Amino acid sequence: MNHPAENGLSSRECLATRLGKDPQTYYTEPFRPQYHITCPEGWLNDPNGLVYFEGEYHAFYQYFGESKFPADLKSWAHAVSTDLVHWEPLPVALEPDEYGSIWSGSAVVDHNNSSGLFSDTPEKAGLVAFYTCTDVNDGCRQQQSMAYSKDKGRTWIKYQGGKPIITSKDDPLNHHDFRDPKVFWHGESGQWMMIVAGGPVRFYSSHNLIDWEPQGMQDDLFTECPDFFCLPADGDETNPKWILSSGGVWYMTGDFKLDGGVYKFFPDTGDRLPFNRAPDVYAGVTFSDIPGRRIMMHWMVNISYPFQTGEITDPWNGALSLPYELTLKTVDGKLQLMQNPVKELSSLRRAEYAFDNLSVSPDTVNPLAELRADKAEITAVIRPGDAAEVGLKLRVGNGQETVVRYTSADRLLTVDRTHAGANPTPEFPGTYSCPVPLEDGKLKLHLFLDWSSVELFTQDGREVFTALIYPDPASTGLALYAKGGEAVFESLRVYGQESLYNNRVFEME
Ligand code: FRU
Repeated sequence: MNHPAENGLSSRECLATRLGKDPQTYYTEPFRPQYHITCPEGWLNDPNGLVYFEGEYHAFYQYFGESKFPADLKSWAHAVSTDLVHWEPLPVALEPDEYGSIWSGSAVVDHNNSSGLFSDTPEKAGLVAFYTCTDVNDGCRQQQSMAYSKDKGRTWIKYQGGKPIITSKDDPLNHHDFRDPKVFWHGESGQWMMIVAGGPVRFYSSHNLIDWEPQGMQDDLFTECPDFFCLPADGDETNPKWILSSGGVWYMTGDFKLDGGVYKFFPDTGDRLPFNRAPDVYAGVTFSDIPGRRIMMHWMVNISYPFQTGEITDPWNGALSLPYELTLKTVDGKLQLMQNPVKELSSLRRAEYAFDNLSVSPDTVNPLAELRADKAEITAVIRPGDAAEVGLKLRVGNGQETVVRYTSADRLLTVDRTHAGANPTPEFPGTYSCPVPLEDGKLKLHLFLDWSSVELFTQDGREVFTALIYPDPASTGLALYAKGGEAVFESLRVYGQESLYNNRVFEME
């Protein structure tokens, strides 16, 4: 990390030294993301307990340190940031105990000490985390427990030593899968609410974060890692809409209303809208308590191959996505989430290559031939004009390339990783497309490339593509191309980025 720490070493170098690793090579393994959260070694899955408190963003994640393959005994590993970009690893926050493994959950700021747990702190406020304790010795029985921190998340105390505050007996649906509590403040009824699922969605309410009463039980909706939050439609604070997220994979918009004395979610329609057009987001949840902003991070993988990726990335396995900022907008007459990379990420920019009004035709010599990038931020405004196809190629070399292309006839935007590099499974190589209408004849792209991922945001957040790739470290070429006519890159910026871990600079030839 670039934050100076002891003896002029970066904090990452300090961590390496602490762990007995070589600080020069630590976090330089092939495919190791250079500006995403990954675990030092072992296994990472879901983001947990994302919360903002007193100037710091906390990200926890499901962690099993001893192996690149998961075991049932998960912990909450922890990283903290003041800017959503530079993350300092902190010691593991919650370890398994006699009640079980520490599975996914959330955290909130108890601003007004409604729990009574913070009476002896100067702020009379603190962080409270909710997680599922899963008893692996009892058929993986799932119950909800709570922990709190009086020192800005540096140390955690399990409430009643980790004894569940919502037991499996408190589940009116009596369903085995009962996990991933997400707690939020419900202003309208002046109480805390929890959505918990794993299997069917259940809502609970509480006045003190400790004693919980059942609210709506919705066994027509099933999901892992549920999230539930409110956003103003088209920025209009008088028109708030609730969003039910199924682990950052699909969502529904709707209302949260009293029905027969309990609060329930009423979807606007039965439509399940996709968060992402490429395969590699799962278990995404949003931060609590960021004033005026709703920001989501995902486990960056597809749930069909999380183990296989570890064969390629050993000794670590699993990364979190960048933070995506969500807003709700009417598009083509329907409300949908817009997702954009948080603006803070621009602080990683180091070198800039700028082109304006660059015409690209089939016979154009690649204007980016001189550039090399193993990671980069790229923004582009493209007029496809009369080109049948226009695109960008990333991580080119040794027969490898990852292609982002727009095809005019079908108006599809496609991310193509069929020849991206190594493949964790035979199904991994693929193309991922969705229609993206031009706006004023233009296509806007905002792309983040890291050592093993591409995150592409289009038309100011209308569609997002998140895809893992495993190119050879030496495949660092970049290219622009057009087929069947002339396209114009009205604006193109390629930014070399700081590495959070290795002080590497962008390479340009
Ligand atoms: C989702 C999930 C959660 C669970 C956690 C266990 O990936 O299955 O439902 O809490 O992982 O690690």
